[in-house]
Formats: sequence, C-alpha cells, structure tokens
Amino acid sequence: QTVFVLNGPNLNLLGLREPEIYGTQTLDDIAGMLEDRARELDLEIDVRQSNHEGHLVDWMHEAQAVGAKAVLLNAGAYTHTSVALHDAIKSIRTPVIEVHLSNPHTREAFRHKSYVGMAAKGTIAGFGATSYLLALEAAAKL
Ligand code: DQA
Repeated sequence: QTVFVLNGPNLNLLGLREPEIYGTQTLDDIAGMLEDRARELDLEIDVRQSNHEGHLVDWMHEAQAVGAKAVLLNAGAYTHTSVALHDAIKSIRTPVIEVHLSNPHTREAFRHKSYVGMAAKGTIAGFGATSYLLALEAAAKL
C-alpha cells in the first residue's frame, strides 16, 4: 500500500531555506530516509511537492482515488490559510496526518492556527525531518 507524502510551498528549498529553523536536509534527503523506512514497513511512498494550493487539493483527491493508505501532509504556509485544504481533508476518507518540521506553536502567532490540523487525524510537529518518520510510523499502524 502507498502512503502519499505531500509537501506545500517553499519546501522545495529545504536545506537552503532558514536552515536554523528547518535543518540542512533537503526534501530529497527526507524522501530517501522515508523510502528506507517504508521498505522495512512494507509500504510504498509517493513524495511530491508543489507551491500551488490546487495541486495539493488534486493530490489529496488522487490519494483517495488510488486507495492510498494515508497522506502525510506538510502544507507549509497553506496550513495557516487554506480552507480549501481543510475541506479536501474532510472530503476524503483517506486518513491525513499533518506534519511540520518546526513546532508552529512556539513561533509567530499567525502560525498558531492550523486549518489542516483542525481536519487531520493527528499532527506531528517540531522534530525536524524526524517528524516525517514519526508520521510514517503512525500511518503504518492505521
Ligand atoms: C512548516 C511550518 C509552517 O508554518 C511554514 O509556513 C512552513 C514550514 C514546517 O514544516 O515547519 O513552510 O510547515
């Protein structure tokens, strides 16, 4: 079974982007780490990134259409703005796990509200790249 790992805006720049907050690993590095763990868990992963909100909505629908086991979603800044992503999560039966590298609650007030978290099955945040691994572990147990 496949777990979709969907990444939103600016996450293509991981490794370069504010490394003191987001770390020095690139999205490819994280994908490699997830690949290794997925193999051990007997899962497939499909890692994607887009800077466009609608692509993320389309991919959530696709996750359900192909019968994905779960979606790990780091929606980046859309987390804090997107009613469309909130509705997309509610529109599919596929469980969605919200993921963040940083802990938004320790940061600016505008990051304290999560439209994704209000609809997701659960949230893992604050552990850097390990947040993705922990989310994959959780997905495997669903
Ligand atoms: C982020 C947290 C968001 O607030 C921010 O806009 C991001 C990255 C994280 O993974 O820590 O782009 O989702």
